[in-house]
Amino acid sequence: MKKQPGWALPDLKEAQKRTNAEAHIEKNLFQIPEQIKMLGQGKKYYLRTYGCQANERDSETLAGILEEMAFTPCDNPEDADFILLNTCAIRKNAEDKVLGELGSLKRLKREKPDIVFGLCGCMAQEEEIVKTLLEKYRHVDLIFGTHNIHRLPELLYQVMMNGKRSVEVLSKEGDVIENLPVRRFGKHKAWVNIMYGCDKFCTYCIVPYTRGKERSRTMEDVLDEIRTLKQEGFKEVTLLGQNVNSYGKDLHIAGGFAKLLEETAKIGIERIRFTTSHPWDFSDEMVDVIAQYDNIMPFIHLPVQSGDSDVLKLMGRRYSIEQYKTLFHKIEEKIPGCAISTDIIVGFPNETKEQFQHTLDLVDECKFDNAFTFIYSPREGTPAARMEDNIPLEEKQERLQQLNERWNKYALEKNLAYIGKTVKVLVDGPSKKNKDIYSGYTDTNKLVNFVRKDAEPGDIVEVKITDAKTFSLDGEQL
Ligand code: 5AD
Ligand code: SF4
Repeated sequence: MKKQPGWALPDLKEAQKRTNAEAHIEKNLFQIPEQIKMLGQGKKYYLRTYGCQANERDSETLAGILEEMAFTPCDNPEDADFILLNTCAIRKNAEDKVLGELGSLKRLKREKPDIVFGLCGCMAQEEEIVKTLLEKYRHVDLIFGTHNIHRLPELLYQVMMNGKRSVEVLSKEGDVIENLPVRRFGKHKAWVNIMYGCDKFCTYCIVPYTRGKERSRTMEDVLDEIRTLKQEGFKEVTLLGQNVNSYGKDLHIAGGFAKLLEETAKIGIERIRFTTSHPWDFSDEMVDVIAQYDNIMPFIHLPVQSGDSDVLKLMGRRYSIEQYKTLFHKIEEKIPGCAISTDIIVGFPNETKEQFQHTLDLVDECKFDNAFTFIYSPREGTPAARMEDNIPLEEKQERLQQLNERWNKYALEKNLAYIGKTVKVLVDGPSKKNKDIYSGYTDTNKLVNFVRKDAEPGDIVEVKITDAKTFSLDGEQL
């Protein structure tokens, strides 16, 4: 497929560049031209989100934009006039899922030739993927990336009016665009971006290439958003960033993330969470603030990635396993009852049996409440993808299974210790299977299914725990 005039294709080399220039904070950049405002009148959109919370939050913006253009949402792609997939590139299997979905939705184009297919998010930032889409997925009409969500109105207009494919992916460091609309998908729990991008460049990870450089929102903008959410009745906010510990460094904000956490706590919203923290720059001030404020939830996601210092070095993680353990135990000591979860990659290129054993040893020591475990997946353009790898896939699968058995054992143990205790649960709503059973999360982020008395979604209720499983607790509302 030849590049068409007006297209902008992704460029991984460009995406890797970092300068000292501060990101632009754009307060008024987004606007919908008058002639486009009713583009979606009588039309439906189907939006599907893959991947992490950053994508979930981006989808709330995409939905907000489309609804300002008079589109209405639908739950079934068959009913849609515009199908948009907001995609994830973190591992190959995430991409395969999207390509599979695109393949199976293709028939809709035959039945309904005017239907518009769009793809955005992290996969759109990848050179090879866009090439594949242009050559083999000809029913995809619109491709745009993570840096130009605000361009959706014009790009969609071009496709719908001219009937031509449109590709606009920017591989730049990125700006902060403040005036984008949002349609929150939850009524009681909200995501709040505090920063975008990542500069850590862990050697296996595609995120710094797909999401641009670390750039913070101002503290006033973040706090204003949280104040508004509180006024609107939200009970919980989750502060989002690829590495929230870096918050404010680019803008030289005194006190950084610890200060932001404290100011958020003072607003008095019931529950504050944050994700993700990199162990490397998790400061003592952060630990102290979390310990000090009851409305900062005692739950920390602290990805370790490997239990072996040599592997951590090859991964570019900037800490040794001893440093990780010191931080882990400091958190345990200063924030009693704090739940800690982690991410672990098995089968990093040439990981030896002994190095993998160190990961199992770490799990034995830390007894994580929860763990997200992955087989290493080479990502084009990253340094690790250029490393030779002598471990067969079967061996990696075997290690993953062993690791999962190990952490599951401790997660169950941790959950069993809840039996007989009373916990506070923020209620999500009734479970799908049984209307009398409601579910929600504890302050330590444990899923609880409970027999309801009078709980309504959004309430924080007391629940006595009666039983425990690896991934959830059972209980009765008091
Ligand atoms: N292969 C496997 N897992 C990865 N992650 C990030 N990149 C890769 C990769 N190339 C995992 C890390 C990270 C989580 C979000 O995804 O564990 O913390
Ligand atoms: Fe990826 Fe590392 Fe940045 Fe996390 S900190 S997004 S793993 S590069």
